[in-house]
Amino acid sequence: MNYLSLNDINNLSEWVQDAIELKQNPLDHQKLGKNKTIGLLFFNNSLRTRLSTQRAAINLGVEHIVMNFGSAGWALEFEDGAIMNKGKSEHVKEAARVISQFCDIIAIRAFASLENKEKDLAEEVLTSFAKYATVPIVNMESSVGHPLQALADAITFKENLPVGKEKKQTYRPKVVLSWAPHPKALPHAVANSFVQMMQKQDADFIITHPEGYELDPEITKDVFIEYDQDKAFNNADFIYTKNWSSFVDYGKVVSQDTNWMITKNKIKQTNNAKFMHCLPVRRNVVVTDEVLDGKSSLVIEQANNRTYAAQIVLKKILENKE
Ligand code: CP
Repeated sequence: MNYLSLNDINNLSEWVQDAIELKQNPLDHQKLGKNKTIGLLFFNNSLRTRLSTQRAAINLGVEHIVMNFGSAGWALEFEDGAIMNKGKSEHVKEAARVISQFCDIIAIRAFASLENKEKDLAEEVLTSFAKYATVPIVNMESSVGHPLQALADAITFKENLPVGKEKKQTYRPKVVLSWAPHPKALPHAVANSFVQMMQKQDADFIITHPEGYELDPEITKDVFIEYDQDKAFNNADFIYTKNWSSFVDYGKVVSQDTNWMITKNKIKQTNNAKFMHCLPVRRNVVVTDEVLDGKSSLVIEQANNRTYAAQIVLKKILENKE
């Protein structure tokens, strides 16, 4: 069993409920991880993913070993049949099988290059490890998705539905995914997985962004896109904010329109919406201090739920291996 994308979850609402129960007594399954080891491979930086996955492993009694490939590992070759006479020292074919001998689960973070669309869409690092490793693989953010973040977001979303209302058949919260400005070109992974997660929720979900920032249509499918952020925010119950670079003009920053920053006045147009962001976030560029520090901000809860998202994934993988 791998956890490469949100599609690897057979029943999202069940997993969310299981994670919420796990959160009540996170140390209840310590025996499950006895004598098991997870290898965390980082090709890119991280705060939340690194620490929450380690915390999740500790909660389950799993040992963890960490490898920072970006700074400490041999440069890996991924191309089949490559003549390795340049900078790459080791092929993923050996690396994945060798690491599989040291670990019972391998988790990988490898961002999009934002330079080569075809390679990014193929998720070369993640899929190569999934192909050659002999143990389960967990995606800690790949070029296309961040399913651990999306699972944490699903937990946070469920926990913050208005009490009682969520049980009424007629209640459908309005959720808006809003692009916001950022000085750097950022990947699409968080937005993609959030869209996939929302497509499995009983909610009115729309996306808002300036023209030119359309996400991969294979992922957004028939989700409504509103190019007017004010209109999109009208009556919204949840605002999920994220920057991403252009998908069509791949990896480019086609606009940095500061009018798209999330401000208190924008939140006033909503139905007292909760504010969500995966973090890290650039204050007063993506969102103002007032919103981020306000009562409606869920960002710290979201980060906390990263542990239980990772823990439920590891628990199910370990149970599957038993
Ligand atoms: N949200 C998230 O993945 O945070 P890190 O990049 O710090 O892991």
